[in-house]
Amino acid sequence: MSHRIGHMLGIEPLSAEEIVFLLDQAKPFQEIQRHPLKKLATLRGKTVALAFFEPSTRTRISFATAASRLGADAMNLQAESSSVKKGESLLDTVLTLDAMKPDCIVMRHSASGAADFVARHLPIPVINAGDGTHEHPTQALLDALTIRDRLGKLDGLNVTILGDILHSRVARSNIHLLSKFGCRFALSGPAMWLPKEIECIGPPGTSIRRVPRIEQALEGADVIITLRVQQERLHEPALSVDEYVLQYQLTEQRLAGARPGALVLHPGPMIRGLEIEPAVADGPQSCVLEQVTNGLAVRMALLFLLIGSGADASPAKESPYAAD
Ligand code: CP
Repeated sequence: MSHRIGHMLGIEPLSAEEIVFLLDQAKPFQEIQRHPLKKLATLRGKTVALAFFEPSTRTRISFATAASRLGADAMNLQAESSSVKKGESLLDTVLTLDAMKPDCIVMRHSASGAADFVARHLPIPVINAGDGTHEHPTQALLDALTIRDRLGKLDGLNVTILGDILHSRVARSNIHLLSKFGCRFALSGPAMWLPKEIECIGPPGTSIRRVPRIEQALEGADVIITLRVQQERLHEPALSVDEYVLQYQLTEQRLAGARPGALVLHPGPMIRGLEIEPAVADGPQSCVLEQVTNGLAVRMALLFLLIGSGADASPAKESPYAAD
């Protein structure tokens, strides 16, 4: 079976087999990051349009670097200094970019569904680099690659997600992905950030518990995903920063309640001293910088599959990581 990928809009529609295939495709690109000469000519002559309508450090630079290391050119929309500021619509903006003939477009937008909308109007592949509170698929893929590398598997893990789950596309994409491998979830944070609807994500029978007490949520965790807390959102329920830190910060003491060696992930940007104690962020269980490096490999693989000769690639027949 060959895996032809048209767009990368979200994790939800992908099967476990397709996810394993994508992660396997990233392996050789992980090797390239360790090589002194990192530049390939695989996508020479191709152009990747980067249209970020929201701020980004990791994702935008990661895609730009992935394109460059594959030999492609990048076309960069700076939303702050673009005609978006003059009232140009999303559709007119992306049609304008498309008229300059890029081979794909990577986009981030504050509206959930924006990437799907653009994919319906452009003739080129669209990669969702984060849309509102909906999905951030390449973040979930790089997280999964990091977890699989460290633990040797994705199946049946206990995953704890901490913080502002209500507004988090990272949480949704990770739940979509890891639930396809039978992972169980404990979600913890202030009650107003733990929506009941989140329990319905994932295939029927997925175990998703909302656990207000962080200590209880961490019991037996193999993987802990800490989310960024936006300080301005703390005013919504009138929870002070000090109170958040006291009740919900991932500290060394709390981490000791998880499985020994439990992985700590954070998508960034990370607010040290708020959602995570610096000693945890910099400790041996932290995967934060590894996640960033793996992001490059995942995005190189994706660009190769979408606009390179990898569009005809077949999945590794006997992947040691294959899902049941
Ligand atoms: N993880 C992530 O999406 O980070 P950026 O907002 O910096 O891209």
